[in-house]
Amino acid sequence: MSDALRMAWIGCGRHATEMLLPQLVRHPVRLVALCDVDEGALARAGDRFGVPDAARRRDYRDILARTDVDAVGMAVGPQAHVAIAVDALASGRPVFIEKPPGANGAEARKIAAAAASTGRLAVVGFMKRYSTANRIAANLVHAPEFGPAAGFLGEYMTAPTYFSGNPDYTGFYLHHCVHYMDLVPFLMGPVAALEARRHELAPGKLLLHAHFRFAGGGLGTLAMGTNQSRATPMEWWQVMGDHRRVEVRNVHEVRYVRAPKFKIDDPAATLADAEDTLVWEPNLTAAASEDHKGYHAVLGAFVAAIRGAPATAPTAEDGVRAMDLLDAMIRSLDSGRPVMF
Ligand SMILES: NC(=O)c1ccc[n+]([C@@H]2O[C@H](COP(=O)([O-])OP(=O)(O)OC[C@H]3O[C@@H](n4cnc5c(N)ncnc54)[C@H](O)[C@@H]3O)[C@@H](O)[C@H]2O)c1
Repeated sequence: MSDALRMAWIGCGRHATEMLLPQLVRHPVRLVALCDVDEGALARAGDRFGVPDAARRRDYRDILARTDVDAVGMAVGPQAHVAIAVDALASGRPVFIEKPPGANGAEARKIAAAAASTGRLAVVGFMKRYSTANRIAANLVHAPEFGPAAGFLGEYMTAPTYFSGNPDYTGFYLHHCVHYMDLVPFLMGPVAALEARRHELAPGKLLLHAHFRFAGGGLGTLAMGTNQSRATPMEWWQVMGDHRRVEVRNVHEVRYVRAPKFKIDDPAATLADAEDTLVWEPNLTAAASEDHKGYHAVLGAFVAAIRGAPATAPTAEDGVRAMDLLDAMIRSLDSGRPVMF
């Protein structure tokens, strides 16, 4: 482990301990320090990930003052991410920032400015791009054969429970909707206009539709809401081109539909590589270390970039773009008017 990247991690809550840290330590990384303002969370994470008592701190500045930290990761929350990321970049470390990178576009810009002025890598954990199915589908959509993407349709739902403490839906927008404010332009290119409408079924149960006009001319509609059970599959998207489309269902099935001929009158009908539908599904029973949600892959892209690989992970500038789109969506929901870019 001598050449392992020495990382400090700030914020040892539910997401970090259940999703991120277990995936991070599968990479050539050594967790040398942990931080959380909550003593209990800090102790549980320290015990689980083998970080000694002396390297557990409640003030993140103590972590940044260490001399044995090569890189910093964090999963704290929207507001805290800004100050911690700016200070970590100022200390000379590359940073991994779980989404959202601040509470709005203006805050995300502070992180992007710090990354630019220090010249340090700032990666935002938009892992939807890295989910295996989304990665396959995005590569199909971005291949020359696909041609211009004409349309996006998608839905990304959740339940009211997770956001019950935020009856104004701030948490729903910042923690949930922000994912697709990165994924949609990642797939479709720059957004020229965004208009969103809402329907509140009951307090806490919101359904919204966001309509996009892309700079390339394409159209998009995205449904998001808090009115479905988290115990059901609730994520689906499709990008449509000319006589072809790619569909991803619940990040575990990719269908690439092209332009086959009718088969009913063809006694020799078969499946043709170049025109019939291609389907990908993972083998969920294989005893392989799989992470189809993308946490392992996005953290891997961060680690690889620090070690000299091309920087491919979502940047602080991508964070600004996503937060600007989120701000625009909320403005449109409140005003009933489209927002032009
Ligand atoms: N990508 C995903 O799928 C996904 C899923 C869930 C959460 N998240 C994101 O992860 C982040 C954390 O969410 P969570 O559900 O783990 O929340 P959480 O409340 O369980 O964890 C946050 C932790 O940060 C600690 N903390 C707060 N202020 C701090 C500070 N100044 N210094 C150090 N520690 C501090 C808290 O004590 C807590 O332990 C959020 O930004 C959320 O949007 C991402």
